[in-house]
Amino acid sequence: MNDMKIQIAPSILSADFGRLAEEVRSVEMAGADVIHVDVMDGHFVPNITIGPMVVKALRSVTNLPLDVHLMIEFPDRYIDAFAQAGASWITVHVEACTHIHRTINAIKALGVKAGAVLNPATSPSTLEYLLADLDLVLIMSVNPGFGGQHFIPSSLGKIGHLRKLLAILDHYVPIEVDGGVNFQTIEAVTSAGADICVAGSAVFGSHDYEATIKKLKELGQKGIDERGVSV
Ligand code: DX5
Ligand code: ZN
Repeated sequence: MNDMKIQIAPSILSADFGRLAEEVRSVEMAGADVIHVDVMDGHFVPNITIGPMVVKALRSVTNLPLDVHLMIEFPDRYIDAFAQAGASWITVHVEACTHIHRTINAIKALGVKAGAVLNPATSPSTLEYLLADLDLVLIMSVNPGFGGQHFIPSSLGKIGHLRKLLAILDHYVPIEVDGGVNFQTIEAVTSAGADICVAGSAVFGSHDYEATIKKLKELGQKGIDERGVSV
Protein backbone atom coordinates (compact mmCIF):
# COMPACT_ATOMS: atom_id res chain seq x y z
CA MET A 1 0.00 0.00 0.00
CA ASN A 2 1.06 3.63 -0.44
CA ASP A 3 -0.57 6.81 0.82
CA MET A 4 -1.13 8.45 -2.58
CA LYS A 5 -4.61 9.90 -3.14
CA ILE A 6 -6.06 10.06 -6.61
CA GLN A 7 -7.03 13.47 -7.99
CA ILE A 8 -9.80 14.05 -10.52
CA ALA A 9 -9.53 16.96 -12.96
CA PRO A 10 -12.78 17.53 -14.89
CA SER A 11 -12.06 18.98 -18.33
CA ILE A 12 -14.35 21.91 -19.11
CA LEU A 13 -14.14 21.01 -22.81
CA SER A 14 -17.25 18.88 -22.27
CA ALA A 15 -19.05 21.44 -20.05
CA ASP A 16 -21.96 23.63 -21.15
CA PHE A 17 -20.07 26.80 -22.18
CA GLY A 18 -23.24 28.86 -21.89
CA ARG A 19 -23.22 28.13 -18.15
CA LEU A 20 -19.48 27.74 -17.62
CA ALA A 21 -19.22 29.42 -14.21
CA GLU A 22 -22.08 27.33 -12.88
CA GLU A 23 -20.58 24.14 -14.33
CA VAL A 24 -17.21 24.82 -12.68
CA ARG A 25 -18.86 25.59 -9.33
CA SER A 26 -20.88 22.37 -9.63
CA VAL A 27 -17.86 20.12 -10.15
CA GLU A 28 -16.01 21.87 -7.31
CA MET A 29 -18.98 21.16 -5.01
CA ALA A 30 -19.08 17.60 -6.39
CA GLY A 31 -15.54 16.82 -5.22
CA ALA A 32 -13.26 17.74 -8.15
CA ASP A 33 -9.62 18.41 -7.16
CA VAL A 34 -8.47 20.43 -10.18
CA ILE A 35 -10.14 22.20 -13.14
CA HIS A 36 -8.60 21.14 -16.47
CA VAL A 37 -8.72 23.88 -19.12
CA ASP A 38 -8.06 22.84 -22.74
CA VAL A 39 -6.59 25.63 -24.86
CA MET A 40 -6.59 24.89 -28.63
CA ASP A 41 -5.46 27.11 -31.49
CA GLY A 42 -6.69 25.40 -34.66
CA HIS A 43 -3.06 24.83 -35.73
CA PHE A 44 -1.41 22.44 -33.29
CA VAL A 45 -4.76 20.65 -33.06
CA PRO A 46 -7.73 20.84 -35.44
CA ASN A 47 -10.02 22.62 -32.99
CA ILE A 48 -10.26 26.10 -31.42
CA THR A 49 -11.34 26.72 -27.85
CA ILE A 50 -10.50 29.44 -25.36
CA GLY A 51 -7.77 31.88 -24.31
CA PRO A 52 -6.53 33.81 -21.28
CA MET A 53 -9.73 35.88 -20.90
CA VAL A 54 -11.75 32.79 -20.05
CA VAL A 55 -9.05 31.58 -17.64
CA LYS A 56 -9.21 34.97 -15.93
CA ALA A 57 -12.99 34.73 -15.63
CA LEU A 58 -12.74 31.21 -14.18
CA ARG A 59 -10.13 32.30 -11.65
CA SER A 60 -12.78 34.29 -9.78
CA VAL A 61 -15.28 31.42 -9.88
CA THR A 62 -13.35 28.62 -8.15
CA ASN A 63 -10.69 28.06 -5.52
CA LEU A 64 -9.43 24.91 -7.24
CA PRO A 65 -6.13 24.91 -9.16
CA LEU A 66 -6.58 25.80 -12.84
CA ASP A 67 -4.67 23.26 -14.93
CA VAL A 68 -4.11 24.97 -18.29
CA HIS A 69 -3.27 22.48 -21.06
CA LEU A 70 -1.83 24.40 -24.00
CA MET A 71 -2.46 22.64 -27.31
CA ILE A 72 -1.02 25.52 -29.30
CA GLU A 73 1.92 26.36 -31.50
CA PHE A 74 4.49 28.82 -30.11
CA PRO A 75 3.41 28.38 -26.47
CA ASP A 76 6.25 30.67 -25.30
CA ARG A 77 4.33 33.64 -26.71
CA TYR A 78 1.37 33.01 -24.43
CA ILE A 79 2.62 31.67 -21.10
CA ASP A 80 2.88 35.14 -19.58
CA ALA A 81 -0.75 35.92 -20.49
CA PHE A 82 -1.99 32.64 -19.01
CA ALA A 83 0.06 33.14 -15.86
CA GLN A 84 -1.34 36.68 -15.47
CA ALA A 85 -4.84 35.30 -16.01
CA GLY A 86 -4.44 33.02 -12.99
CA ALA A 87 -3.28 29.63 -14.30
CA SER A 88 -2.00 27.45 -11.44
CA TRP A 89 -0.38 24.89 -13.72
CA ILE A 90 0.64 25.33 -17.36
CA THR A 91 1.47 22.28 -19.46
CA VAL A 92 3.12 22.48 -22.88
CA HIS A 93 3.50 19.80 -25.53
CA VAL A 94 6.97 18.41 -26.20
CA GLU A 95 5.94 18.36 -29.87
CA ALA A 96 5.20 22.12 -29.87
CA CYS A 97 8.38 23.33 -28.15
CA THR A 98 11.76 23.70 -29.83
CA HIS A 99 13.49 24.59 -26.55
CA ILE A 100 11.27 22.96 -23.96
CA HIS A 101 13.84 23.26 -21.16
CA ARG A 102 13.69 27.04 -21.61
CA THR A 103 9.89 27.07 -21.82
CA ILE A 104 9.45 24.97 -18.66
CA ASN A 105 11.80 27.20 -16.69
CA ALA A 106 10.09 30.34 -18.01
CA ILE A 107 6.76 29.02 -16.69
CA LYS A 108 8.29 28.28 -13.29
CA ALA A 109 9.86 31.75 -13.17
CA LEU A 110 6.31 33.15 -13.38
CA GLY A 111 5.40 31.27 -10.19
CA VAL A 112 3.30 28.67 -12.02
CA LYS A 113 3.74 24.88 -11.87
CA ALA A 114 5.13 23.59 -15.15
CA GLY A 115 4.41 20.35 -16.95
CA ALA A 116 5.36 18.64 -20.20
CA VAL A 117 2.74 16.83 -22.32
CA LEU A 118 3.35 13.80 -24.53
CA ASN A 119 1.17 12.96 -27.55
CA PRO A 120 0.28 9.27 -27.92
CA ALA A 121 3.19 8.55 -30.30
CA THR A 122 5.84 10.41 -28.27
CA SER A 123 8.10 8.39 -25.98
CA PRO A 124 8.69 9.26 -22.31
CA SER A 125 12.40 8.97 -23.07
CA THR A 126 12.14 12.44 -24.73
CA LEU A 127 11.82 13.74 -21.16
CA GLU A 128 14.82 11.96 -19.69
CA TYR A 129 16.94 15.11 -19.34
CA LEU A 130 14.01 17.31 -18.38
CA LEU A 131 12.31 15.31 -15.62
CA ALA A 132 14.26 16.98 -12.82
CA ASP A 133 12.86 20.38 -13.92
CA LEU A 134 9.23 19.31 -14.17
CA ASP A 135 6.39 19.73 -11.67
CA LEU A 136 4.22 17.23 -13.57
CA VAL A 137 3.99 15.14 -16.73
CA LEU A 138 0.76 14.88 -18.72
CA ILE A 139 0.37 11.77 -20.88
CA MET A 140 -2.22 12.03 -23.65
CA SER A 141 -4.20 8.82 -23.97
CA VAL A 142 -6.05 10.15 -27.05
CA ASN A 143 -4.86 12.35 -29.90
CA PRO A 144 -5.48 15.88 -28.62
CA GLY A 145 -8.23 18.04 -30.08
CA PHE A 146 -11.57 16.65 -28.97
CA GLY A 147 -13.41 15.26 -25.98
CA GLY A 148 -15.19 11.92 -25.95
CA GLN A 149 -12.61 9.83 -27.83
CA HIS A 150 -11.60 6.24 -27.04
CA PHE A 151 -8.69 5.56 -24.72
CA ILE A 152 -5.57 4.33 -26.62
CA PRO A 153 -4.50 1.10 -24.85
CA SER A 154 -0.74 1.53 -25.48
CA SER A 155 -0.88 4.52 -23.11
CA LEU A 156 -0.84 2.07 -20.20
CA GLY A 157 2.61 0.71 -21.05
CA LYS A 158 3.79 4.28 -21.55
CA ILE A 159 2.69 5.36 -18.07
CA GLY A 160 4.65 2.37 -16.71
CA HIS A 161 7.70 3.33 -18.81
CA LEU A 162 7.65 6.85 -17.36
CA ARG A 163 7.31 5.48 -13.82
CA LYS A 164 10.41 3.34 -14.41
CA LEU A 165 12.39 6.36 -15.65
CA LEU A 166 11.36 8.31 -12.56
CA ALA A 167 12.34 5.42 -10.30
CA ILE A 168 15.78 5.18 -11.96
CA LEU A 169 16.27 8.92 -11.38
CA ASP A 170 14.89 8.53 -7.83
CA HIS A 171 12.68 11.54 -8.55
CA TYR A 172 8.95 11.86 -7.92
CA VAL A 173 6.85 13.77 -10.47
CA PRO A 174 3.05 13.40 -10.51
CA ILE A 175 1.71 11.76 -13.67
CA GLU A 176 -1.52 13.12 -15.13
CA VAL A 177 -3.40 11.21 -17.84
CA ASP A 178 -5.80 12.85 -20.30
CA GLY A 179 -8.26 11.30 -22.73
CA GLY A 180 -10.83 8.52 -22.58
CA VAL A 181 -10.64 8.17 -18.81
CA ASN A 182 -13.95 6.80 -17.50
CA PHE A 183 -15.40 4.05 -15.28
CA GLN A 184 -14.06 1.39 -17.67
CA THR A 185 -10.46 2.64 -17.91
CA ILE A 186 -9.57 4.55 -14.74
CA GLU A 187 -8.47 1.62 -12.57
CA ALA A 188 -5.98 0.42 -15.19
CA VAL A 189 -4.71 3.99 -15.65
CA THR A 190 -3.96 4.53 -11.96
CA SER A 191 -2.68 0.99 -11.50
CA ALA A 192 -0.14 1.73 -14.28
CA GLY A 193 1.06 4.81 -12.37
CA ALA A 194 -1.21 7.84 -12.91
CA ASP A 195 -1.88 10.14 -9.95
CA ILE A 196 -4.16 12.73 -11.59
CA CYS A 197 -6.89 11.77 -14.05
CA VAL A 198 -8.52 14.23 -16.43
CA ALA A 199 -12.15 13.34 -17.17
CA GLY A 200 -14.21 15.44 -19.58
CA SER A 201 -17.15 13.58 -21.08
CA ALA A 202 -17.23 11.06 -18.20
CA VAL A 203 -18.03 13.89 -15.75
CA PHE A 204 -19.88 16.55 -17.76
CA GLY A 205 -21.77 13.92 -19.78
CA SER A 206 -23.21 12.43 -16.60
CA HIS A 207 -26.40 13.48 -14.80
CA ASP A 208 -24.96 13.41 -11.30
CA TYR A 209 -21.48 14.98 -11.10
CA GLU A 210 -21.04 14.09 -7.43
CA ALA A 211 -21.86 10.39 -7.90
CA THR A 212 -19.64 10.23 -10.99
CA ILE A 213 -16.61 11.85 -9.36
CA LYS A 214 -17.08 9.65 -6.28
CA LYS A 215 -17.14 6.48 -8.39
CA LEU A 216 -14.14 7.62 -10.49
CA LYS A 217 -12.22 8.25 -7.26
CA GLU A 218 -13.15 4.86 -5.81
CA LEU A 219 -12.11 2.96 -8.93
CA GLY A 220 -9.00 5.11 -9.43
CA GLN A 221 -7.92 4.73 -5.82
CA LYS A 222 -8.23 0.94 -6.18
CA GLY A 223 -5.68 1.16 -9.00
CA ILE A 224 -3.31 3.27 -6.89
CA ASP A 225 -3.58 0.89 -3.95
CA GLU A 226 -2.82 -2.06 -6.25
CA ARG A 227 0.52 -0.47 -7.18
CA GLY A 228 2.23 -1.08 -3.86
CA VAL A 229 5.01 1.17 -2.62
CA SER A 230 7.42 0.91 -5.53
CA VAL A 231 5.38 2.78 -8.15
C1 DX5 B 1 -8.35 16.41 -25.59
C2 DX5 B 1 -8.31 17.17 -24.29
C3 DX5 B 1 -8.93 16.48 -23.15
C4 DX5 B 1 -10.40 16.17 -23.30
C5 DX5 B 1 -10.64 14.90 -22.59
O1 DX5 B 1 -7.59 17.10 -26.51
O2 DX5 B 1 -6.97 17.48 -23.93
O3 DX5 B 1 -8.69 17.18 -21.94
O4 DX5 B 1 -11.24 17.15 -22.79
O5 DX5 B 1 -11.96 14.52 -22.83
P1 DX5 B 1 -12.49 13.06 -22.47
O6 DX5 B 1 -12.29 12.86 -20.99
O7 DX5 B 1 -13.93 13.12 -22.87
O8 DX5 B 1 -11.68 12.08 -23.29
ZN1 ZN C 1 -6.53 18.27 -21.91
